[in-house]
Amino acid sequence: MMYDRSYFDQPISRIGTACEKWDGIQEEGKQDLLPMWVADMDFRCAKEITDAIKARAEHPVFGYTFETEAATQAMLGFMKRRHGVELTADEQIMMPCVITGLRTAVLTLTQPGDGVIVQPPVYGPFFASIRENDRRVVECPLIRQVDGGYRMDLDSVEEACKAGAKLMLFCNPHNPVGHAWSRDELTALWQILDKYGVYMVSDEIHQDFELVPGCVTSMLNIATEKDAKLCTLTSASKSFNLAGLQQAVLFTRNQQLKNDLAACMHRVGVVQGNIFAMTATEAAFAHGDNWLDALLDYLRGNEQYIRQELKARLPKIVLSPMNATYVGWMDMRAYGLTDEELTKRTHEAGVAFTGGPFFGEKAGSGFLRINFACPRSQVEEALRRLEKAFNA
Ligand SMILES: Cc1ncc(COP(=O)(O)O)c(C=O)c1O
Repeated sequence: MMYDRSYFDQPISRIGTACEKWDGIQEEGKQDLLPMWVADMDFRCAKEITDAIKARAEHPVFGYTFETEAATQAMLGFMKRRHGVELTADEQIMMPCVITGLRTAVLTLTQPGDGVIVQPPVYGPFFASIRENDRRVVECPLIRQVDGGYRMDLDSVEEACKAGAKLMLFCNPHNPVGHAWSRDELTALWQILDKYGVYMVSDEIHQDFELVPGCVTSMLNIATEKDAKLCTLTSASKSFNLAGLQQAVLFTRNQQLKNDLAACMHRVGVVQGNIFAMTATEAAFAHGDNWLDALLDYLRGNEQYIRQELKARLPKIVLSPMNATYVGWMDMRAYGLTDEELTKRTHEAGVAFTGGPFFGEKAGSGFLRINFACPRSQVEEALRRLEKAFNA
């Protein structure tokens, strides 16, 4: 099927569907809040996916299942076609979600008390995956540039490696700053980790959201050796909005690493094997390209619209320059408010963003993250409410 912007323009009510993004905040008694927070899209998914799920539902038995060859091949084909990454079927492990992979890697590759490197501001569960497993968070914050963009602090990463860190949880493209790291940046980072024998988990769940075509490079195309201490994590769930189905994948060419990670998952009984998740994953990776391309055009339009409107109507807010993801990182510090005040003001005006401290207490303080993967009319309403919060 061919898709155009009218498909993504259609608002769709998700209220009453056990939807974390909409119902989750209503349950807290905030019915009028327009949700621009959790990274979940307010769009109909691809018809190819719903058709495949419906076809499978026609068969009335839903017993134990297994990972299908067709789903694996669809995934490998997608990685090659869209990301230029060549992998074989024995270089992947399917799992329920990306967080399963992050936590499994922390448990497998480090001991209690070991240091694990992160680069705040960064996706909050990175911190929890480390702390809740009694490992130490070693922060190597990104460095903010004058234009609101970010670069890595490679000196501090090297210091952390020298001081004995065992693992780095890396985000590419980076959530929340919306930056897909360049080949040069990735190569420089990898050279440091490799020199000190530090493992990397590269969370590439936002890999498909290229606002600038071709800007995303997978770490798998930087660290190509068979024994590289690297695994990457991704999923159809983010790219095709299937998070409620729970299906993700870990890639590594390092067979020892793969076996160790698989053994850890086995020990705690984490198995994947959800019939509908597997069906949807196969359909998305095999037949989702047209939907994804049209979605990307739509997201580019939303990002440009927000940038232009903020500049004109709320010039004190600095939206970081971005080339990837569908989340914008807004610097609100010019208002001189605390994080609690920022939340209160926006909620009172009827709009919910993700508060910056979720991405690191210090590096995220004074920021809000806006998720703009929703119909344009919803973005327009969110900006009206944001204006009400700060210009009233
Ligand atoms: C960088 C990053 N990693 C992981 C996740 C969560 O993925 P999953 O739902 O597969 O655990 C998200 C969700 O927003 C994310 O932004």
